Amino acid sequence: MGMTSLSQAGLSNLWVILAAVTAICLVSQRVVRYIQSMERFSLGRMKCTDNLIERRYVRENGCVPPSTTLRQGFLGLGMLRDIQKANREHRVRAQFGEWFAKYGHTWGADTGGRLFIMTVEPKNIQSILALKFKDFELGTYRNKSFYPLLGYGIFSTDGSKWEHSRAMLRPNFARNQIADIEIYERHVAALIKQIPRDGSTVDLQELFFRMSKTIDSATEFLFGESVNSLENPTSGPEQSFSSNFNIAQDGLSHRFRLGPFRFLYRNKQFAPAVQNCRDYVDRFVQKAIQYRADVDSGKISPEEAKLNDLQYIFSYELSKHTINKTELTDQLLSILLAGRDTTASLLAITFWVLARRPDVWTTLRKEILTLDGRKPDFQELKNLTYLSWVLNEVLRLYPVVPVNSRMANKDTHLPVGGGPDGKDPIFVPKGNEVFYSVSTMHRRKDIYGDDAEEFRPERWEKLRPGWAYLPFNGGPRICIWAAVCADGSGVYGCACITGV
Ligand code: HEM
Ligand SMILES: *[C@@H]1O[C@H](CO)[C@@H](O)[C@H](O)[C@H]1NC(C)=O
Ligand SMILES: *[C@@H]1O[C@H](CO)[C@@H](O)[C@H](O)[C@H]1NC(C)=O
Ligand SMILES: *[C@@H]1O[C@H](CO)[C@@H](O)[C@H](O)[C@H]1NC(C)=O
Repeated sequence: MGMTSLSQAGLSNLWVILAAVTAICLVSQRVVRYIQSMERFSLGRMKCTDNLIERRYVRENGCVPPSTTLRQGFLGLGMLRDIQKANREHRVRAQFGEWFAKYGHTWGADTGGRLFIMTVEPKNIQSILALKFKDFELGTYRNKSFYPLLGYGIFSTDGSKWEHSRAMLRPNFARNQIADIEIYERHVAALIKQIPRDGSTVDLQELFFRMSKTIDSATEFLFGESVNSLENPTSGPEQSFSSNFNIAQDGLSHRFRLGPFRFLYRNKQFAPAVQNCRDYVDRFVQKAIQYRADVDSGKISPEEAKLNDLQYIFSYELSKHTINKTELTDQLLSILLAGRDTTASLLAITFWVLARRPDVWTTLRKEILTLDGRKPDFQELKNLTYLSWVLNEVLRLYPVVPVNSRMANKDTHLPVGGGPDGKDPIFVPKGNEVFYSVSTMHRRKDIYGDDAEEFRPERWEKLRPGWAYLPFNGGPRICIWAAVCADGSGVYGCACITGV
């Protein structure tokens, strides 16, 4: 009796010990990984004060630290906590506005060892995106956090991989401008059908997200067949693709915000959602690969292929450059991501504004009526000046990519932001990030005037803000779509929603 209970106790002790050891192993693995990542960063910090070469770089370039370096809360994690909270409460733009109001136009920050500079200085942003393009990359956090869904597509790579993507994708955009309007028309008609006639309330945003680049016209443009989610609003693979794409995309931005603490992101839905999206696109990728094989083997005649070329199906065009399945899926999903919420958001916000501003609505309507119900071509669309102003103004006050960032891939510096008056250059050591808030910059009173917070399309009659206005980013990585639409005058908002 004594023996059995003893061995029983021994056995259960053994279980406890085993469980404890396993737990300790699991935890310490995390701890070690965390320390490893911290170490890299703190070493980076020590380096920037101790390393002679860096000191010389700082001296030679007249760099002065920014007047504020924010290290808020436990381990400096206060900012991360604040931004997560703001995200949950849908007040990210306000949060950035508050920070810049408090700490100035350029300042440094450290959140848990992730060192970065925050700026809303056009000169600094121009340096990052254009003048010193080669010194900056999207960086580790962006490519690692986006990788699961987008692989090595244009949205998650740097250097030669990015160059390859850009060179491959860019020509495909130049040609589609003409065909767009037809596709657009049909999907708009489907959208208008969904709007109730009895004066009841409708959530336009939801409809735009279904119509826009998201699903209907985007899939038609990219894959050659539309999923027509507006016409089939019930469940089905299309609807599940749409909601999985939401989950996946939300996961990407969440993971990016966490940066080195990415491993803390736990959402059981994330991995299956990513898998679902990739499987869904796979069908179209297979079709494009098969098509290219049929053209090459002569199964599809050159005449027929020429006709198809005119119809312009993005995935077929892309298959001229690559028939690597992974690469095709990466690029198609990247473009879907780049073009989807951007255009849908722009439309949704525009109507949100119009609903509140009868004066703007009336002026806009007057301009549209000059078309006499004709379908405008690309040139005529660009000619609708007031419409351009309205869209420019929407993208100024509510830019759909409100905050962006780059990571220095070598020791470098930015022209302003250092010293008490923020006029001196600042040092950006390799591996540090620079975040820039376009939404805050677009509301700077010293740039846009005292009425900067006001929605006033007329301001665009004379306004040419250059690098102080960046809804589409700038430099070599400017939005591909905007690059196609831009006519050099800076007024391109309007043309950019054709083909939505
Ligand atoms: C209102 C509409 C749009 C806005 C405001 C917008 C804005 C932007 C911004 C800010 C970027 C830079 C992202 C970064 O570097 O981190 C970007 C990149 C990009 N956009 Fe757009 N976009 C719009 C529509 C579209 C559409 C419709 C497409 C394609 C169908 C598209 C394709 C792309 C691509 C491929 C890139 C990546 C360029 C590169 O990294 O080289 N965009 N866009
Ligand atoms: C991801 O970012 C890091 C840091 O900038 C870079 O070294 C690496 O090459 C990037 N990976 C890709 C695939 O672009
Ligand atoms: C296809 O592309 C992926 C990523 O771009 C690469 O890892 C893979 O080796 C390529 N496959 C072939 C067969 O070339
Ligand atoms: C553009 O608008 C002006 C006047 O508003 C008009 O005279 C001109 O014909 C238009 N051009 C095109 C291409 O529609």
